[in-house]
Amino acid sequence: MGIVKHNKKARGSRPQAPQTALAEVVIDALSHEAQGVSHSQDKVMFVAGALPSETVTVQVSKAMRHYNHGQLIEIVSPSAERVTPFCPHFKRCGACQLQHLASDKQLGYKQQNLHEQLTRQLKLAGIPWQAPIASEPFHYRRRARLGVRYRKQQDEIIVGFREAANKHLAAITQCPVLQPSLSALITPLQLLISQLVSKSRITQLELIAADDTDVVVVRHLKKMEAQDVKRLKKWAQAHRTQLFLQGDDEGLTCLWPEPLASSAESALRYEVEGSQLHFNVKNFIQGNNAVNQKMVAQARSWLAAKPHETLLDLFAGIGNFSVPMAKDFAKVVAVEGIADMVQQIRHNAALNQRDNVEACVLNLADEILLPKLPQADAILLDPPRTGAAELMPWLSAQAARILYVACEPSSLVRDAKVLLAAGFKLEKICVMDMFPQTKHVESMALFVKN
Ligand SMILES: C[S@@+](CC[C@H](N)C(=O)[O-])C[C@H]1O[C@@H](n2cnc3c(N)ncnc32)[C@H](O)[C@@H]1O
Repeated sequence: MGIVKHNKKARGSRPQAPQTALAEVVIDALSHEAQGVSHSQDKVMFVAGALPSETVTVQVSKAMRHYNHGQLIEIVSPSAERVTPFCPHFKRCGACQLQHLASDKQLGYKQQNLHEQLTRQLKLAGIPWQAPIASEPFHYRRRARLGVRYRKQQDEIIVGFREAANKHLAAITQCPVLQPSLSALITPLQLLISQLVSKSRITQLELIAADDTDVVVVRHLKKMEAQDVKRLKKWAQAHRTQLFLQGDDEGLTCLWPEPLASSAESALRYEVEGSQLHFNVKNFIQGNNAVNQKMVAQARSWLAAKPHETLLDLFAGIGNFSVPMAKDFAKVVAVEGIADMVQQIRHNAALNQRDNVEACVLNLADEILLPKLPQADAILLDPPRTGAAELMPWLSAQAARILYVACEPSSLVRDAKVLLAAGFKLEKICVMDMFPQTKHVESMALFVKN
């Protein structure tokens, strides 16, 4: 039995009063939200924490017209794929959904999920699956945002991700999916903030591991007290991290190292496919460094440039694909919606002596602007989760090879439908495990015009 989508917007689906009776059900699939799915009762039931092939006792926690949510009460017969979650915070913390499933089995379910969407919605047969891009199961994540909350009554600072069951923060002391140097900062930061006079003004911490330094961004409301700023600076110096303060006016101040003599000195960097890329804390970077390396290498290999060809890199960020791929193509045109990142692309092209990279700012959701895009032999697009619906009419009229890098399977499937209808063929596809232990899956698909 396959993957079943949660139909949140089913017409007439109104929550009904929960029933309290316990029931024993068999789980036969894993949903795209990483919940067990049972078809053994009249209505489909979604059970968080349950795995395919398990028999579990559940209680209906939310009854909808067409399906139920069940609360897992007991695992009667566990799956052979079930493992003990390695993180002490897994039960409450909502950041990971799959730690109870063996790491080497997760990607199979994720591919199966995408496979079923492609076959069901696009009526595709014989999907040209390529080997997946796997990841280390832990210690992979190089960027995370943690919530911070001051509980006045307890005079306590909570640092953590949102809980799975609600919007409260689950206090954490470590995070094993984060790169270890970032995870090791969580408890010291919690202690530090607890000692600040302006502790109640801090709302968020962002942790970033660049190739040669770790960075902490402290986000806050209202101005921080001068004595706290001093303390934060001292802490950053002792922990050898860069530290930025960002107020609710969005303005960023680098507290440490100080003073930063030039913007080049403040540049964070990572290396991909032999190119050095600079970025700043406001820029997007891919969350899993090792998977990013393999992803860019595979994009180069799948697009197999000829030396005279032009590449159009859409949703280009800071040039993560454009700069390394400028080695293969005669010309690369990188398009990005945020002007600051377009500046970074130009800087990164110069840094790597790639004078064949052109970068421009364009809103790719604005259909009126799309005719401004140049013709190219190959087009790479790496849109946000919502996909690239507005771009598809323009894209489907092109003759180029199209490489779609997707962070949301349903957006890929929707956009692929337009390409297939326009005469493109799906030549290759694979899943990429950018975020092991979570429900998220990324994928890469190559389309070629028949
Ligand atoms: C998933 S990121 C990919 C970035 C880059 N390709 C990489 O690998 O790091 C998506 C990028 O699309 C940009 N973006 C989002 N919406 C856009 C739009 N309407 N027009 C142009 N760029 C957009 C974002 O600023 C972001 O840099």
